[in-house]
Amino acid sequence: MFSDIQAVERGLRRAGYIGDGIVHTTVYLAASLHKPVLEEGPAGSGKTELAYAVGVAADTKVERLQCYEGINEEKAIGKFDEPLQKLCVELKSKSGDVDWTALRTELHSQEFFSAGPLMRALLYEKPCVLLIDEIDKVDQKFEAMLLELLSVWQLSIPKLGTMKARSIPFVVLTSNEERRIGDPLRRRSFYLRVEHPTAEREARIVALRTPDSSAEFHAGMAGLAKALRGWSLEKPPSVSEILDLAEALKILGHEQVTPDMRDILLPLLAKTEADRKKLLLRDGFASLVYDAQQYTAEALRGGAA
Ligand SMILES: Nc1ncnc2c1ncn2[C@@H]1O[C@H](COP(=O)(O)OP(=O)(O)OP(=O)(O)O)[C@@H](O)[C@H]1O
Ligand SMILES: [Mg+2]
Repeated sequence: MFSDIQAVERGLRRAGYIGDGIVHTTVYLAASLHKPVLEEGPAGSGKTELAYAVGVAADTKVERLQCYEGINEEKAIGKFDEPLQKLCVELKSKSGDVDWTALRTELHSQEFFSAGPLMRALLYEKPCVLLIDEIDKVDQKFEAMLLELLSVWQLSIPKLGTMKARSIPFVVLTSNEERRIGDPLRRRSFYLRVEHPTAEREARIVALRTPDSSAEFHAGMAGLAKALRGWSLEKPPSVSEILDLAEALKILGHEQVTPDMRDILLPLLAKTEADRKKLLLRDGFASLVYDAQQYTAEALRGGAA
């Protein structure tokens, strides 16, 4: 999939994803050794985005299985298309003599199977990216099924038979840690802890989204993010929320955050009542802006280095 670690870095950057050395090496090794990557970390930290970026970097398709409570194998693997089967039987019976044994075999062939993302991922000639998103939402039985797929790279479907992988996909599993993923799946995967980025990396991410703004603005957003995350909020802002803030400031025509902007920015910065109260404390916001300025200066020095 990738010739070396630099190819991963270049590819991800082309896809608009700014990783770090650990991300690049882990993706490279996982692709080379056919290991799934299990990503855990806060909401909005770029877990799902990384899978799509790997797809762009490797110039391949992404198959996404969005997990949810109660998801079943039919949704993930697929099922026979009953209306199509019925239609076929009706048409054949109208046309006269029917070889029922042959028809039964035909009706249970791949042509009548409507494949779900897991099955589709195994059928590509060229390895795709298989994103199993929010795996912490599924139950243990479903996790065991996935475990088997990731071990043997084949799926057994009643009446259809065993489908072996034509190519082994690059698998990304993401989790928000609502339920603990079992050790057997952890053992088989490489574990990528996706945390909030450093100020220097966050400034580069903001720069990708608001390329027309100055380096000071990008560093300013990264500095504010760092200050907010040091504020012991119930819900510290993620990268995606900082990107929202940057775009909102552009719309409002502001190049920086000042203490008098507290009230209009609160809906973007505080996402729980407790956090809102904290930022409303007397001088609270002003000291946050002060902290942010210190971090901004640091991020600018880092960027210039
Ligand atoms: N390293 C990064 N480089 C570029 N963009 C990033 C990066 N990290 C996060 N983003 C931005 O943040 C947004 C949110 O990321 P994403 O949806 O992948 O988060 P997530 O971790 O999957 O969140 P959730 O757990 O809520 O699903 C992305 O659309 C992307 O624009
Ligand atoms: Mg996600």
